[in-house]
Amino acid sequence: MSPTTPDLLTRQLQALLDTDDWLTNAAQMVAFIKAEMPGLNWVGFYLQRRPDVLVLGPFQGLPACNPIPFSKGVCGAAASTRTTQRIDDVHAFPGHIVCDAASRSELVVPVVHDDRVWGVLDIDSPEPARFDAADQARIEAMVAVFVAASAGTLSGAVSMVRS
Ligand code: SME
Repeated sequence: MSPTTPDLLTRQLQALLDTDDWLTNAAQMVAFIKAEMPGLNWVGFYLQRRPDVLVLGPFQGLPACNPIPFSKGVCGAAASTRTTQRIDDVHAFPGHIVCDAASRSELVVPVVHDDRVWGVLDIDSPEPARFDAADQARIEAMVAVFVAASAGTLSGAVSMVRS
């Protein structure tokens, strides 16, 4: 398989996301990742529904922290820098927000659409250093599939709360 060919999980996700409704796709995606990737205790989306704040979206796992400002935590770092955060030991990350005390490592991928941070996908594991570079590439590819499938419903007017 060439490095540009999506792997099996990514192709399965592509088939699963058969609506353009971001809410349905997000719910399906977190359930799919939690079921198919071993060693995870929490998988979920946080959405930027007001400026520089992440609000809890569809997830699988224990009830979680909400809201998260862009200035806080691993999720805030991913959103504010627009770069994936792959953290081997969350206890060593300054400002890490503890939601589920079992979490030891974390992967957070920003979800960017139309040059706007729509949100982040956050994945937690109770195993230290659970995520390697291949996991990161695979999850980033899955997020790209999510954005492509849901693009028609990701615009600000649909997902932002009026202030
Ligand atoms: N640990 C995250 C908070 C979200 S939970 O893990 C579900 C953080 O530091 O941003």
